Amino acid sequence: MSTVLVTGGTGFIGSYVVRRLLQRGDTVVAYDLVPDQNAIQMVLTPEEAASVTLVRGDIRDSLHLFRTIKEHGVTDLVHLASLLIPACNENPPLAVQIMGDAFVNILEAARTFGLRRLVWASSVAVFGSPEDQREEYVSNDAPHYPRTVYAGLKSLEEVLAKYYASAYGVDSIGFRFTAAYGVGRIRGVSAFATALMEKPALGQPSTVLYGDDVVDWEYVEDAASMILRALEVDGVNTRIFNTRCDIRPVREVAEFVKRVVPGAQMEVQGGTTGIVWKCDDSLLRQELGFEPEWPMERGCLATMNEFRRRANLPPLNAPQS
Ligand SMILES: NC(=O)c1ccc[n+]([C@@H]2O[C@H](COP(=O)([O-])OP(=O)(O)OC[C@H]3O[C@@H](n4cnc5c(N)ncnc54)[C@H](O)[C@@H]3O)[C@@H](O)[C@H]2O)c1
Repeated sequence: MSTVLVTGGTGFIGSYVVRRLLQRGDTVVAYDLVPDQNAIQMVLTPEEAASVTLVRGDIRDSLHLFRTIKEHGVTDLVHLASLLIPACNENPPLAVQIMGDAFVNILEAARTFGLRRLVWASSVAVFGSPEDQREEYVSNDAPHYPRTVYAGLKSLEEVLAKYYASAYGVDSIGFRFTAAYGVGRIRGVSAFATALMEKPALGQPSTVLYGDDVVDWEYVEDAASMILRALEVDGVNTRIFNTRCDIRPVREVAEFVKRVVPGAQMEVQGGTTGIVWKCDDSLLRQELGFEPEWPMERGCLATMNEFRRRANLPPLNAPQS
C-alpha cells in the first residue's frame, strides 16, 4: 500500500489521478493552493471526496510541504502543481518561483525523504513550434525551442529532474503531456479542446478556436493512466517521455461533435496554437507499455455526456458510422 501526495491534486489532471489512486486502494493526500472550487469538485463523487485528505498548501513553502510529507508518511509523489501558459505570461516572477524554485523543493523532498518515485508533468511546449523541428514526429531527445515563459520553465524542470536523478539518485519519471481534455479542464491554452465539446453538449452555440490546427487529443483518463503506470513500473531508462494519444485535425473533431448533436451551432475559426503536437511516443510504449485507450470519438462522447449528466440531461448516442 502506498501513500501518494499529489501536488496540484485538486486541479484538472490531478483530480483524475487522485480518483484512480483511490480506486487502486492507496491513501491519497491532495496538496494544492486551491482546494475548494477547483476541478476536483467536478470530478469526484462525494464518497470519493470523503476519502481524500485535502491539504491547502503552497509548494513554494518548503517547510509546510516537508511537514505534510512526514506527517502523512508519504511514499510517492505526483507533482502536477504549476501555472499554465497564460498565467506564466501574466506573471513571470511568480512563474519562476512556482516552476523553478518550488520544483527544487519537490526534488529536495523526494531526495530527503527517500521517496520511492516522483512522477511529474512536463509539456510538449518545450519543443516550440512545428517549424522549429526537423522531424514530423518529434523524437524523445529532440532539441528544445521554448517560445514561452511556461515552456522555458518546463525545459528547466527537465534539466533539474535529470540532474537530481544522476547526482542524488532521485527516481523520477516525467511526461510531456499534449492537449489533455475532459470535464474539469478549466485553465490553459488547450482548454479550447474541452470548450469545443461543452457548449454543443448543452445545446448552446459555440465558437471553435484554432480550426486549422492538427492536435493530439489526450483524454484525461489516458494521462492519468500514464501517471499510474509510472508509479507501478520497476525501472526505466528514460526519465522524461513524449506522449501521444490521438492526432486529429480540429475540424474533424468539430465534425464529429456535429454528428453527435445534429444541428449544433458551431462557428469554426481559423488559426493554429503554434504548438508541436506530433511526437514520437515509441519509448513510452516500449518502456512503460502504455497504449492509449481513449480514441478521440470515445473521449469526446464521454466528455459531452459527463457535461450533460451534470446538467441533468439524458446522454447522447454515438453517431452511426
Ligand atoms: N492539461 C494539459 O493539457 C497539459 C498539457 C501539458 C502539460 N500539462 C501539465 O500538467 C500539470 C497539470 O496540469 P492541469 O491541466 O491539471 O492544470 P490545473 O491548472 O488544472 O492544475 C494545476 C494545479 O496546480 C495548483 N497550483 C498552482 N500553483 C501552486 C502552488 N504554488 N502550490 C500548490 N498548488 C499550486 C493549482 O491550484 C491547480 O489546481 C501541469 O504541470 C501542467 O503544466 C498539462
